[in-house]
Amino acid sequence: MSQVKVLSGFAKDTLKGLTSPRKFLQPKYFYDTEGSKIFQQIMHMPEYYLTNCEMEIFRTQSMSMAQWLHLSDKVFDLIELGPGDGIKSKILLKELHATQKSFTYLPVDISAYSLEQLSRELTKEIPGLQVKQRAGDYFSVMEDMAAQNGTSRVILFLGSNIGNFLPHERAAFMQKVSAMTSSGDGLLMGFDLKKSPAIIQKAYDDPHGYTRAFNLNHLQRINRELDADFDLRNFEHHASYHPETGEMKSFLVSNKAHSVSLNFAKTHIHFDKWEPVFMELSQKFDFKSIEELARNFGFSVKKNFLDTQGYFTDSLWIKK
Ligand code: AVI
Repeated sequence: MSQVKVLSGFAKDTLKGLTSPRKFLQPKYFYDTEGSKIFQQIMHMPEYYLTNCEMEIFRTQSMSMAQWLHLSDKVFDLIELGPGDGIKSKILLKELHATQKSFTYLPVDISAYSLEQLSRELTKEIPGLQVKQRAGDYFSVMEDMAAQNGTSRVILFLGSNIGNFLPHERAAFMQKVSAMTSSGDGLLMGFDLKKSPAIIQKAYDDPHGYTRAFNLNHLQRINRELDADFDLRNFEHHASYHPETGEMKSFLVSNKAHSVSLNFAKTHIHFDKWEPVFMELSQKFDFKSIEELARNFGFSVKKNFLDTQGYFTDSLWIKK
């Protein structure tokens, strides 16, 4: 059932984006099996500093994180939105478990398969850890998790996933986080920080061509799943960073005037020569914008855990 729902959502969103006056596609559809494989390659390349920086933070500071997350010794739920392979959170879970605090880990992910795998690994690696997984789109799962009196909560949202939301989506996400937390609850969120534009540029326009392949795979996915006939040779990958706004934006630009058939919708989409399709925002933050985001949604920033280069922060917020 969910397969049909996801597919129809994909079809609807694709049609909406490609028929809009400024064409766009939604980044959440990057991650089919092929896209997830390419994303793994991106995360392993040296130019994509984000993964290594956040790993360094977890490897070197998870003991201190665990201490900050004590929430005055109460029982709490640790809810992770989109854990993926959970490699970073596992480090923190081991530390927290070692403190003998009473908590339940609730990973929420769209992929039931990766949740199963994560749960199995956790049972082996951290015997006694309480895990309750929730499969589903985390926006809808969050709606079900309205704030409750009783068990305190700590929410984890790592990997700078917050940066992929457009400003109105970021606000909607924060509204949901705010609605599911009560005074004293915690939020640990990963933010990629503003830095030398040349470094950011290389992370999203890499010499190996992985990011280009990642973007083009989105068109291939539309071909595969929605019976379209994109010719990938007609598109160029373009990524550009704007130091004023901190926006890294990725586009596929049509290099000739042509049309593509979207057979599922029985329609054609025309592309002008050099017309862009907006693919993804990867927002970069500074401490001022992090403080402001926290304040706007009822949180205060307690501590920023930074890597040694100061490229990335896992920012710990407490609900006021
Ligand atoms: C998942 N997300 C944080 C990545 C990013 O850095 O915006 C997705 C990505 N897109 C291209 N490279 C990586």
